[in-house]
Amino acid sequence: MSRAVCNCMRLGLPRCFRTYTRWIGFSEMMSIAAGARCLAKQCCQPWQHRNIRYARDIRFRLEMREQNEEYARPAQPPDTSSLATVREAAAYCTACHLYKRGTQTVFGEGPKRAAMVLIGEQPGDYEDVAGKPFVGPAGKIMDRALADAGIDRSQVYVTNAVKHFKWEPRGKRRIHQKPNSREIAACRPWLEAELRIVRPNLVVAMGATAAQAIFGPGFRVTRERGKVLSSKLAPRVVATVHPSSLLRQPDEESREREYKHFVADLRAASRAADEE
Ligand code: URA
Repeated sequence: MSRAVCNCMRLGLPRCFRTYTRWIGFSEMMSIAAGARCLAKQCCQPWQHRNIRYARDIRFRLEMREQNEEYARPAQPPDTSSLATVREAAAYCTACHLYKRGTQTVFGEGPKRAAMVLIGEQPGDYEDVAGKPFVGPAGKIMDRALADAGIDRSQVYVTNAVKHFKWEPRGKRRIHQKPNSREIAACRPWLEAELRIVRPNLVVAMGATAAQAIFGPGFRVTRERGKVLSSKLAPRVVATVHPSSLLRQPDEESREREYKHFVADLRAASRAADEE
């Protein structure tokens, strides 16, 4: 490990530190401080990519703050086989403007060697606060369906196509907004990194956003639902509805019917995940 000059020194981060603190808020200052830990340790490697990213992203944030506009560019996850490192890098993602609205990045969760990965759309209100995927009402119904399909949630990796909560205010409530194709594309490298590291046998794409993140905008869940498909991201992919669609059913009868169909899709996915 080199102990000579670390990258944040090369980037001139400490020299700019005072200028930046006059412009930016507390959380960004903390980001710089976290990046600058490496200076104190005088070690390059573990913090290297983070420091480069901090400096670049902080400069970018300052520019965007001035322009105050929506933007999206592809995220750049670190090239590593460590899920923890990717998760940490994602916590500071500014690839699209959604980081300004969300409380935090909600990264995927589950075993690194999970045979099955479940992908949803984006964190909701509860997930945004908790920092964990599928812990709100949609998560509860998904958990019940997983149990009914004989799948142990603790054995699957659960994530979202978009890692920040997109919402708009309505009174005191934060109302979910669907992410657009540019936001999905900006976040896709995080999903690719998760799938590259976990290497599941099978992915379940729940809802149009997840399915389109994998197969592109032309994909229709209604046409392809329940079929075992394949993509560059995973050898087997099953698309199904999003669990929140079950909560939106108009009456008990259709809720029950749709729930059973969702469980059947999960059961089929589980069987396909066990195939060699
Ligand atoms: N809906 C999603 O798509 N993901 C979550 O994590 C929660 C609700």
